[in-house]
Amino acid sequence: MTSLAPDYSNFVIPTYGRFDLDLMSGSGSRVQDAEGREYLDFGAGIAVCSLGHAHPGITESVARQAGTLVHTSNLYRTRPQADLAKKLVELTGPGKVFFCNSGAEANEGLIKLARRFGASSARHRVVTFHGSFHGRTMACISATGQDKVKKDFGPLLEGFTHVPFGSLDAVREASGDDTIAVLVEPVQGEGGIHIATPEFLRGLRSLCDERDMLLMFDEVQCGLGRTGFLRGWDAIAPEVQPDAVSWAKGIANGFPLGAFWATSQREDSRGPLCDLLGPGSHGTTYGGNPVSCVAGLKVLDVIEREGLLENAIAMGADLADSLRVISNPWIAEIRAIGLMVGVQLRVPSTPLSKSIAMDVVTGAMSRGLLVIPAGETVIRFLPPLNTTREEIAEAVHIFTAVLNALSQTVSPPKYSSNLP
Ligand SMILES: Cc1ncc(COP(=O)(O)O)c(C=O)c1O
Repeated sequence: MTSLAPDYSNFVIPTYGRFDLDLMSGSGSRVQDAEGREYLDFGAGIAVCSLGHAHPGITESVARQAGTLVHTSNLYRTRPQADLAKKLVELTGPGKVFFCNSGAEANEGLIKLARRFGASSARHRVVTFHGSFHGRTMACISATGQDKVKKDFGPLLEGFTHVPFGSLDAVREASGDDTIAVLVEPVQGEGGIHIATPEFLRGLRSLCDERDMLLMFDEVQCGLGRTGFLRGWDAIAPEVQPDAVSWAKGIANGFPLGAFWATSQREDSRGPLCDLLGPGSHGTTYGGNPVSCVAGLKVLDVIEREGLLENAIAMGADLADSLRVISNPWIAEIRAIGLMVGVQLRVPSTPLSKSIAMDVVTGAMSRGLLVIPAGETVIRFLPPLNTTREEIAEAVHIFTAVLNALSQTVSPPKYSSNLP
């Protein structure tokens, strides 16, 4: 098989720093390249393929729906969209759901919902956090608390204030007369697996109540099972009820689908929050198409029937514990919640051509393990929710070999700790 690299280089806009790997097929936690080489996929398409690759239940439902009705537009109703909306409301709380195609669009919707909610009181500002990631549209890069996503794209959308993740005082200080909402990832994914504390989420809820602001959770990466709970924040503070939540990634095992939920329990003179975006105010042609929605229904069904939330908690603990016992000077810290596991690496004392995270990820790939970098110093393990102890043992074995090999070639870290 000839490499796809020349075609990508000639015809695909180079927005991604892609790895030199052409993937042809997948099954469960494994994918195969063009030479038939197999990889243990502990990235799962960046926390997307929760049931693994080519799951027979997904294949069957999608094939059946593809032979029945693929697309209608949102001018009409379809059964899969109605059923998935009902399920998402049942698991989240009284309210309603809007469907789109991606995480960025789901957050874009939340930002528009917040602005509409604030319009009656002339408030528009949204507080977000350093290290956050909310997507690549103009509103979402403006909301994101990382400079690297904004470079050369100004002027950005006005109306976001970024404060340190975890600092209630900073949120209080940033919430002025023009502030309408707080948008937060209960677990920062792209930022390197940083987990909010229960006190922080509770404090945000109280502050939002006190100031009549919306509390909006970006659960695009951490939602729908990844933390071991469908409401991802239940792993941290189940008593906290947000006003709105966004999802994508794991929602449909790889079929393009995003969604956001808004509560029916907040309202002003115009009615409940979940009805504020009325006809003509927001929309998308493909969003919530029947094929993606049957995949979404199947994901929720299999998670429940096969006990995958329990598995995510048990396997996540196994993975984190196994990584914690690796004795290697490169590892500074393991941060884990369910099957979102981040390895914080130390910075080498000699500069590298790429980053330490890229060196480790490419080293793992060459040994048959796919894991995902987050920034320059964190490695993320995001395996399917139905991964097994054997797969975890294999992944940890390969990862240990990669770190040991690194210690032979790169000067070991000179700092005892360099956590961000
Ligand atoms: C927390 C979070 N929000 C939003 C997004 C954007 O999602 P998408 O790439 O589907 O637009 C991501 C993607 O990594 C994410 O992790």
